[in-house]
Amino acid sequence: MLPDDLHKFGTDMGPSIIVTAAVGLLMLVGFLTFKSVSSDDVLPGIPELKGFPILGALPMYLKHGAPQLLGKLIALGDNGISYTKVGNRFLVSVHDPAMIREVLTYSGEIASRDGDPRRVSWSPFSTLQRLIGHNLFNCVGPETSHQRGVFIREFNNTKSNFAKFDTINKVATAHVNALADDGLATEIANITNRVDNFALALWGETLYGNPQNHVGGRVLHLSEIVLDLAGNPWPSVWYGFQLFLKLVSPGEPTRSEAKLRAKIEKVVEGNMEILEEYERHNPDAPLKTIRNLSVMSGGGRRGPLSPFAAEFTSLNIFAGHHSMGSNITWSLIELNKHPECMEKLMTEMNSANTIDFTTINSKMPYLDAVIMEVNRLYPVVHATVRVINRETPLASSKKPAILKPGMLIYLSYLHLQTSTKYWGPDAKEFIPERFLGGYNKDQPLMSFGYGPRNCVGYQFAILSAKVFLVRLLQRYRVNVRDHDHEMKVNTLIETTKPVVVTVSPVNSV
Ligand code: HEM
Repeated sequence: MLPDDLHKFGTDMGPSIIVTAAVGLLMLVGFLTFKSVSSDDVLPGIPELKGFPILGALPMYLKHGAPQLLGKLIALGDNGISYTKVGNRFLVSVHDPAMIREVLTYSGEIASRDGDPRRVSWSPFSTLQRLIGHNLFNCVGPETSHQRGVFIREFNNTKSNFAKFDTINKVATAHVNALADDGLATEIANITNRVDNFALALWGETLYGNPQNHVGGRVLHLSEIVLDLAGNPWPSVWYGFQLFLKLVSPGEPTRSEAKLRAKIEKVVEGNMEILEEYERHNPDAPLKTIRNLSVMSGGGRRGPLSPFAAEFTSLNIFAGHHSMGSNITWSLIELNKHPECMEKLMTEMNSANTIDFTTINSKMPYLDAVIMEVNRLYPVVHATVRVINRETPLASSKKPAILKPGMLIYLSYLHLQTSTKYWGPDAKEFIPERFLGGYNKDQPLMSFGYGPRNCVGYQFAILSAKVFLVRLLQRYRVNVRDHDHEMKVNTLIETTKPVVVTVSPVNSV
């Protein structure tokens, strides 16, 4: 049976296409079987998850998805590395900090996020690239560091985040105030969704001058579809089938993917119209962020965006919303479970000038510790992948291991950050205090990635989450209804059920 999200996507395409897809799948399995390779001596001495004859772990991967398969591989490899065969590919889990650091510092020639578009790589980034077009995640080569530099100057820079602070504050305050009518305790059925909407409005306002970006739920819906499809192995199967029959050119979207891409482009067009109107009416106002990104990458102060900025308009549909929703949701869950932590945070907030950028950005150590601990325990990007392009020895492996072209290397940030091996017996406990006064840098913490391709937007994301959390807790007592929330490891980290909260205005309790 097709998984739900593909099914949802499939209903768009009509039943005949779903039948064709199912038949195609059977043919593809035949194709994979035919092209299947032997796993003998691929990584001698490294533990292997055998799975089924010929197909290896493919059925498990298709049925349960990458996170579950990864969990099994991690449990298998006590030396920090293990592997399995998925059809005609090898999937390697590297789960030791030194090895992870090594893989994450490989140059694009050795490893990239999506690999050769002529072959099914199973990488979520390949699906993503077909859905939203070329973007920084896929970029390799000399252009990459320039593009990263542009992002970093805009989002990971104190001066530019200072310039954005008033907007963050204004949008956060408006969204917090809208949670409840004056003086009335109100139940919010899904707090994550409300924070995602804040993030969307913030992006809309910052990039284009469109605070209505979230209205109607269309952008959030599109972003959820993109995320679901990217993390799902089935679109790779479907794509492989179409490649095999030469119905699609390597790297190009399939027909149904192109439909989704057209919907994303429509949202972007709407935002660009709003930007152009804003620019016409405010010729002397500071440039909106997308225009800044464009100017920094060779575009003009008016008219079409630079190719790099244009890429970000689509990338932004999928990136940057769920991270803020996730951070706030898990903070509320943990603070409710740990009233002593909530009390410390409230004490710090009550004695700080929280309308001052510098205070909230860098002078509230307990707030920082809470956000760090939430990102340690619930890293919204829980894992990543690299596809090997050029044979290379994994130097930090205790047993000799040669990584070969086409291998898919899975790296679990979640495992590193919650393993008792590295964080001690209380690794799974919420203890913000571990980050007060710095922390032991030997403990692996990579919620924002590591090395030359780490996150280029995390300072903006953290600042925005902190502002929202502070405004929320200043205005309401927040009560999380259930205390049994668990983590669901999907494309991103989620909760297993919607998080219901009651917000009671502080002046009414
Ligand atoms: C809590 C918020 C966020 C978290 C946890 C997060 C996490 C990450 C992680 C783990 C990576 C590395 C992925 C890998 O190793 O393959 C990454 C990369 C990236 N992030 Fe973030 N991110 C966040 C917010 C943002 C925001 C707000 C932006 C928008 C500017 C952004 C844009 C990017 C981009 C473009 C990359 C790719 C960089 C490159 O390939 O050179 N992220 N992020």
